[in-house]
Amino acid sequence: MELTREEEEILAGREGETRQRMMELLVGLGRVFSASRLVPVASAQVSGASYKTIGRWGLAWLESLDAEVTVPTILNPVGMDRERWREAGIPPDFAENQERVLAVYRRLGVRLECTCTPYEILPPRRGDHLAWAESSAVVYANSVIGARTNREGGPGALAAAIIGKTPCYGLHLDRERAPRLVIRAEGFSRAGRGPDHFGALGFLAGRIAGNRVPFLRGIRPTAGQMKAMGAAMAASGAVALFHVEGVTPEAERWLPGAAGLEEYPITPAETEELLRETEVEAVAVGCPHCSPGELASIARLLRGKRVIKPLFIFTSRHAIEENRALVEEIEASGARVYADTCMVVSPLMDPFTSVMVDSGKAYAYVPSLCGAMVRLGTREDCIREATGGARE
Ligand code: F3S
Repeated sequence: MELTREEEEILAGREGETRQRMMELLVGLGRVFSASRLVPVASAQVSGASYKTIGRWGLAWLESLDAEVTVPTILNPVGMDRERWREAGIPPDFAENQERVLAVYRRLGVRLECTCTPYEILPPRRGDHLAWAESSAVVYANSVIGARTNREGGPGALAAAIIGKTPCYGLHLDRERAPRLVIRAEGFSRAGRGPDHFGALGFLAGRIAGNRVPFLRGIRPTAGQMKAMGAAMAASGAVALFHVEGVTPEAERWLPGAAGLEEYPITPAETEELLRETEVEAVAVGCPHCSPGELASIARLLRGKRVIKPLFIFTSRHAIEENRALVEEIEASGARVYADTCMVVSPLMDPFTSVMVDSGKAYAYVPSLCGAMVRLGTREDCIREATGGARE
C-alpha cells in the first residue's frame, strides 16, 4: 500500500501514540483488503457508542485514546436518552458507564448528536468518500445519495475520523459498485401500506442478496421508503449499496449490465407473510431514527387518541429540538419520544417479552439483541396496536 510522506510520519509515531495506532489500524485494514492507498473522507460516523454493545472492554479501549478527530464526525445512537434516562428507567450504573463513553467521544471532538441518520445533519454530496459505520446510514449514503463508504467497524470509522482518511477499497471503487443480481419486486405500490411494506420488502431482498449489490426493478420508492428498505436489507443481509431502476443516482449507469444478471422475484404475498398479527406488549417506532416528516405523520396518526400499550418513538435530538410542538403533540397521547438511543441499543425493551415494530431492521435485531418476540407492521398498524384502534 502506497503511503504519502505525511502518512509515513504518522505511522512512525511522530504525531503521537494514538494517531500512530489509528494509522496502523487503517494500514492493516488496507492491506487485508488490498487497498492501493488511503483516500480523504468528507465525514465519519462512529458506531460502538452504546455501553450495552461495547461493555467495559470497549470503554477501556476508548479511554486509552488521546487525539482529536480531523473531519466532521457524528456518533451513532447510545444506550439511553441523555436527558430523560431516569424517567425511562435506565439503571444508574448503566447511565454512569454510558456517560463515560460519551465523555471520551466529546474529548475526541466527536459531535454527540447520537443518531443513525447522520445524512439529516451532515448531508454528503454525490461522489463524496465517507467513513460511516452504521449499516442503515451506509446503505442510504451509497444508494440514495451516491456517496461512497464501506460499512466500517467502530474502530475503523474512529481511526478514519482521527486521521481524516480511509483505505481505498470496496465501495470507494467504481468496479465494486456494479450490481451482482436483479431483484424484481412487482405489484408493489408507492403507498407502502399493508403488504407493500418496504421494510418487509427490504428484509426479504437482504436475505436474497447477502452482501451483494442488488439492482431492484418494478418499484418507484420515495427516499423515506428507501431508508426503510435499505436498513432492512443491511440487517437481514449485509447489503451496503443497492440500485433502483429509474430512481437511484447510479442506476442508469448499471442498467445495461443488469440485463445479464440472475433475477429473483419478490411478491407482495411474501411480504404479507411477514406481517402476521400476534399479541404484543409494547410498540417501538423509529428505526432508523424518525425524520421530521415521519414525526409529523405519527402526530397525525395519534391525533385525538390515547395509547393503551407503551409506545416508544426514536429520533435524533436535532429533530426533537427543531420540532418541539410535534413532539409535545405526540407525547400528549401518552407515547414517549426519545432521542440519542433506540429500541435495539438501549435496555428500554428489556421488560417486554414481545414488541411490535415498523422496521425490517428492528424486526431482524430485536429477537437476538433484546430477547423479545417481534411483530412487524406498517407505521399505521403500530399506532393502531398502541392505541387499541380497530382496523379500517
Ligand atoms: Fe438506528 Fe437503532 Fe435502528 S441505531 S437503524 S434505530 S437499530
